[in-house]
Amino acid sequence: MTTKGPSEFFTNDHRLCDREWAELESAAEAGKLDEAAKCWARVDASMRRHYAMEEEVLFPAVESATGMFGGGPTAVMRSEHEQMRGLLDQMGQAAAQADFETLLDQGDTLLMLIQQHNVKEEGILYPLADQALGAQWSEMESKLAEFS
Ligand SMILES: [Fe+2]
Ligand SMILES: [Fe+2]
Repeated sequence: MTTKGPSEFFTNDHRLCDREWAELESAAEAGKLDEAAKCWARVDASMRRHYAMEEEVLFPAVESATGMFGGGPTAVMRSEHEQMRGLLDQMGQAAAQADFETLLDQGDTLLMLIQQHNVKEEGILYPLADQALGAQWSEMESKLAEFS
């Protein structure tokens, strides 16, 4: 997998999470519980992996390239990830009881947060990262490939 920079890589990953969410929603709405459980596991893993890739690789690189540490955009993104992980935890409890109705309700809140979050990343943070990281990107991309 080779991408031009952070914008392309992380925006693709946002779209992957969106697709997996849509699959979960249709399985749950169709009452296919086994399928929904599998979809949930994928959604949960992909979202947590996405946050980890940003927090452990992208944000530190942006912070050191720009000198923006605490209080900057990455600090806001980190705290929003915390909130989103909290919702994933709750949804995991609903999933464990095969209560996909509750899970989808909680998912509406999560999706709203994600939408606002992703707009900021795709509109501001990723373009900034494209600019700031340039030459480091290919090395970072191989680091990101190790996340699963
Ligand atoms: Fe994020
Ligand atoms: Fe993101």
